Amino acid sequence: TTGGTDAQKRRAGESAAAAVEDGDVVGLGTGSTAAYAIRAIGRAVDSGLDVRGVPTSFGARALARDHGVPIVELDAVCGPDSPGIDLAIDGADQVVLGDDSNDGTIDGSATDGSATGEAETDGAGNASGALIKGGGAAHAREKVVDAAADRFLVVVDPSKRTDALDADVPVEVLPEARTTAAAAIRDAGGEPALRRAERKDGPVVTDNGNLVLDCSFGRIADPDQLAETLATVPGVLEHGIFVDLADEIHVGTADGVTVRSV
Ligand code: A5P
Repeated sequence: TTGGTDAQKRRAGESAAAAVEDGDVVGLGTGSTAAYAIRAIGRAVDSGLDVRGVPTSFGARALARDHGVPIVELDAVCGPDSPGIDLAIDGADQVVLGDDSNDGTIDGSATDGSATGEAETDGAGNASGALIKGGGAAHAREKVVDAAADRFLVVVDPSKRTDALDADVPVEVLPEARTTAAAAIRDAGGEPALRRAERKDGPVVTDNGNLVLDCSFGRIADPDQLAETLATVPGVLEHGIFVDLADEIHVGTADGVTVRSV
């Protein structure tokens, strides 16, 4: 569902996977780019890496199992006196990253994940690292896991970069609340559309048994404010705006990976 190539996604995913250290608990993201990270972690497990993964979706769980990544439940690692999540690796549908003048470039083989370049906070070329997620309808669990991690590494291809968020915002709603939530979203300036399944008659049902409203807001000037507004709508389980959560953005490019700390 993106303009990126598989090679770009693979470089991004493998770059982030290289940041995983022995003994880590890792949040396992959803989507085709995070899948490359899960596969790479599986190969590292084959080579002796001791790691446990917390999946963000049914799909991530199945992929992790297929590739030999041991699974652990969130409440087993995030309770009192528990180790917590060391890092989460997850994709995104859009990321505010501006131009590439501050990118630290890692060539195709380097894997230390070192990031250079200071994040700018506003104006042209801003790099807030704000995200839109939920293209795979997994954003509710993704936000729980990504927010719980000490470090959140976002893995994307260059087509996800933007100066300002303007993609549809996925909003997971209780089925009973779909009309009232849609009305509240219209009042907030959005245009909601119930996500329909491609190969099923009817709506997409999330891993949590809920529905998704894809909401167009045009150019989102203030993601913080919209995030707060959506969070207050009764029946909204979670929305796909992620602000102040990302720590590093790994962008797979034609010939390597650029990493930006945000
Ligand atoms: C899942 O709900 C999304 O948040 C994904 O992380 C996002 O859609 C990225 O997927 P791709 O890497 O396949 O573009």
